[in-house]
Amino acid sequence: MADAATPRRVARRTFLGWWLASLMTATVITGLAPILVYFWPAPPKGQKKELITVPLDKPIDQLEDGSATQILAPTSPNSAFIMADGGGDNAPGDLAFGGFVVKNGGKVSVFAQNCSHLGCSVAFNKDAKTFDCPCHGSRFKIDGTVLHGPAAVPLSHLSWKQGGDPKQVQVDGIVLGF
Ligand code: FES
Repeated sequence: MADAATPRRVARRTFLGWWLASLMTATVITGLAPILVYFWPAPPKGQKKELITVPLDKPIDQLEDGSATQILAPTSPNSAFIMADGGGDNAPGDLAFGGFVVKNGGKVSVFAQNCSHLGCSVAFNKDAKTFDCPCHGSRFKIDGTVLHGPAAVPLSHLSWKQGGDPKQVQVDGIVLGF
């Protein structure tokens, strides 16, 4: 009969079994970790969604009808606007680094500058009052709808509201933190 005060001895076979199991577990974790990090990367530090305040040349209520004012996301810290809708190469939640505040028929809208064909930046054509893409020739009417392909769907909207100052817009965006 074993003495209760005598410490239990671990058999060599048991010890080797546990040692091998630990070694195999550590090897598997070491091998899998980079793969898991690839599929579920940690969110970059400092990224946060917020309203991005952008200054305008003139108060919103003084924008001329038929005008488009370019806005750019701040670069310090690096930020981007978030598309509210989309189609073609654009999708809701995609990022845009610039856009246009447009007044058309008395209504103010804000569009992302990304062409819905393959994402090039469109430019406003003041004379024709269209957004023209330099890459493959797509053209959009001032209301963002397609005038000429190859783009097949309108420009994406950006959600916005007037800032505290009438010469500001606040656009849904994200501070990228790099
Ligand atoms: S990216 Fe604009 S027309 Fe192709």
